[in-house]
Parts: sequence; C-alpha cells; structure tokens
Amino acid sequence: MRFSDFGKKLTSHSGILQLMDDIGRPLPDGIKTYPLGGGNPARVPETEALYRREMERILADCEEFEDIISHYDAPQGRGRFIHAVASFFRSRYGWDITDENIAITNGSQSAMFYLLNLFSGKTGGSEQTILFPLMPEYIGYADQGIEDGTFRSVAARCEYFPDRTFKYTLDKEAVAAYLDQREEVGAIAVSRPTNPSGNVLTDDEINFLASLAKRHSIPLIVDNAYGLPFPHIIFTENAEPIWNEDIVLSMSLSKIGLPSIRTGIVIARKEIATALSNLNAIAALASCTMGQVLSENLIASGELVDAAERSVRPFYQEKARKAESWIRRYFEGTEYFFHRIEGSIFTWLYLPSLSIPTLRFYSILMEHGVVTVPGEYFFFGSDEKPYPHEHYDKCLRLNYSGPDDLTEEGIRIISELYRKYS
Ligand SMILES: Cc1ncc(COP(=O)(O)O)c(C=O)c1O
Repeated sequence: MRFSDFGKKLTSHSGILQLMDDIGRPLPDGIKTYPLGGGNPARVPETEALYRREMERILADCEEFEDIISHYDAPQGRGRFIHAVASFFRSRYGWDITDENIAITNGSQSAMFYLLNLFSGKTGGSEQTILFPLMPEYIGYADQGIEDGTFRSVAARCEYFPDRTFKYTLDKEAVAAYLDQREEVGAIAVSRPTNPSGNVLTDDEINFLASLAKRHSIPLIVDNAYGLPFPHIIFTENAEPIWNEDIVLSMSLSKIGLPSIRTGIVIARKEIATALSNLNAIAALASCTMGQVLSENLIASGELVDAAERSVRPFYQEKARKAESWIRRYFEGTEYFFHRIEGSIFTWLYLPSLSIPTLRFYSILMEHGVVTVPGEYFFFGSDEKPYPHEHYDKCLRLNYSGPDDLTEEGIRIISELYRKYS
C-alpha cells in the first residue's frame, strides 16, 4: 500500500498529534499526572447549568430530541442557529451581516483547516501562501497545509518588562514589507487571543493587519476561539471584536463548555461562507447539530454572552492570577520570564538558562508526570532551521485551567527541574 503525498503529509508526526495523544493517553501506573498540556478547557458550573437546562427542555418535548438526532443539517449549518447568530451579531455590534455570511463547521479546528487550504496551495502556475504575522502561533495550524511550504511567518517582536513579563508585538514594518514583496500571499492569519502565548493583539494591531489585507485584496483570518463576545477569555482592554468584509472571523463553542460537541462558527463575506459550506459538504456532509441546538436560545437571548462575561472570564482570570503567583513563587531565584497573561487558557514560560531544548525538557517533565507542550512546535513558517527567534527552544506552554493543586505542583516540579537543567 502507498499513501499519497497528502496522506504522508497529514499522517506524519505532528505537534498537534502529540498534544492530543498526551491528553488522551494515561501515563504508566504509579506516576501521578499534572495535566498542564493540551487545550482542554475547565468545567464552569454556570455554563454547564445553561446547557443542562436546554437539554432538559429538549428531552421534555415528545418530538424535539428525536427530530434533532435523526436529520442531517444543511452543509452550511442549522438554519435556525445561523439566523440566531447573524441576528445577534447584527444587533449587538451593528455588523452588516445576514445568514449568508455564516458557516458552521465541526469545530474551529476544521474551520481553520478549510480556510487555510482555501487560500493556500497551487493556483494555476503559482503557489499561494498564508502569512502568519506574529510567530509563535497555534501548534494546531502548523501541519494543516495540504501542500508543503505554503505557510510563511514573521517572527514576533518582544518587549520585556521589569516584572519578569514580556509581550509579543507585531513587527509592522516587516509584515508590511513582506506583503509588498510577496504577491503570492493568499491570506493573513492570526489567533486572538494567541495560543500559545496568551497575547492579545491590540485593536491598533488588528486594524493595521485589516488595512494591509484590504490593500492587498486578501482576507485577514482571525481565530477568535478564546475571544469576544464568547467565551470572553480576555483580560485586557483594547480588544474589541472586529468584523468587516476583509475579515474572516472564526469562533468556537469549545472553550465555553462544549469541546466534545464540535461546533465552529465562521463569519465571513458571502462568497467565503458559501465556499466553506461547499467544502463542508464534501469533507463532512454536515456539521454536528447538538451544539447548535444547545446554544441557539442562549445566543438569541444573550444569556451565553452574559455567562461569558459574568462567569467564564472571571473564572479564568482567577486561574491566571494563581498560576502567575505560583510561577513567581517557585521560579524565584532563577532566570525566568513569562508572557503577560492577557487571554486564552495558557501561560507561556521563557526559560533562557535551560541547557537542553524544550523538546527534551518536555520528555523529562513527562517522566515526572508533568504534561506540558514544548515551544518548538509553535514556531513554523520559515526555511531557516532552527526558527530564527530567541525563544524557539526555550519556551513551554502551560495550560492553567486544570485543578489548582495539580497546576501548582506541576509548576513547582518544572521549577525544580529547571534549576537542575540550567
Ligand atoms: C487558537 C485555537 N484555534 C482553534 C482551536 C480548535 O478548537 P475547536 O476545534 O475545539 O473549536 C483551538 C483549540 O485549542 C485553539 O487554541
């Protein structure tokens, strides 16, 4: 048997495969696990109660449950849900959208796979690329390109502060120059908040990217999996939701309690929403109905957004505050830095004195039961090896949304082993 190039590329080892494997596979018996690895969100009681209430309402009806599970939706998504989403964003933010601007997918991971391949790869005689303007970026994009070499990136600038934090900023000149010189760029893509760093691109940076996208007649894809108005895991000001015809906004219900019921929501200009629906028909026939059904009334009534603001954001902000205090406590006396925690469910540690690459450090941590994600996977889109960024093999991504005692102990063990391997 022989796999195609597509088969080989998408089945070879990837960071995201490793990460999802680490989530699903228990460590050997006798090793206590500290789960600071993959992107599992926490259970937030208020949103769980809302979904339970909706489910009970559905089950209490003699027909509704059976009706929901026994039909495919259209490839674009469930009509009533799409209508609720379009109406919500139109009335709340005044965005000029109708139902035709929406496409539903089986999670935002699938949405990004469709989008990144819609705008990169062979077009006639040439090859289109995606530009990631702020590297490091989400590990889950790194291997999504069907064709090799079509993901390109500009390394983030880094501003350090006296309190051991730093913040990535857009290298505006480099990004603008790249686009001026490279006609082959088919789209710009960012996550906001950014996975892995917890950075939130400012309104100014997003407006800058949107204006470049407009100037070059290409879309700016904004992955809003942690953003506003839901799940609202953003702790900074200066981060208004933004959409216009040059922007493709990808959203998800995963980080607001429904990771297992795959639901992604894309808001885009009509041609792009239609293209995604057509792609979805070929790749999946239709998307999962249940998340759309459970959240339709909650979106229409504003309850989901209220819960995001009232419960989800404060829940993660408190977790972030604790994670930061444990980092400061246990790393005291070492040479450490971490990215300002502005959003997402991660903290991004920079360990400049580490004497081994973080890929190796990650394996050692695993032997002690501490699951993390090594930084190397989050740097992609350059021909230079290793990736030309001082943080390339010196960072670890930690998910701080797990149980407090395990997160604290995990951080303590990392700090001890950092001392040993400095
Ligand atoms: C930035 C980002 N985008 C997309 C996803 C995919 O999420 P889902 O497919 O569950 O919507 C994740 C998951 O962790 C993420 O962190």
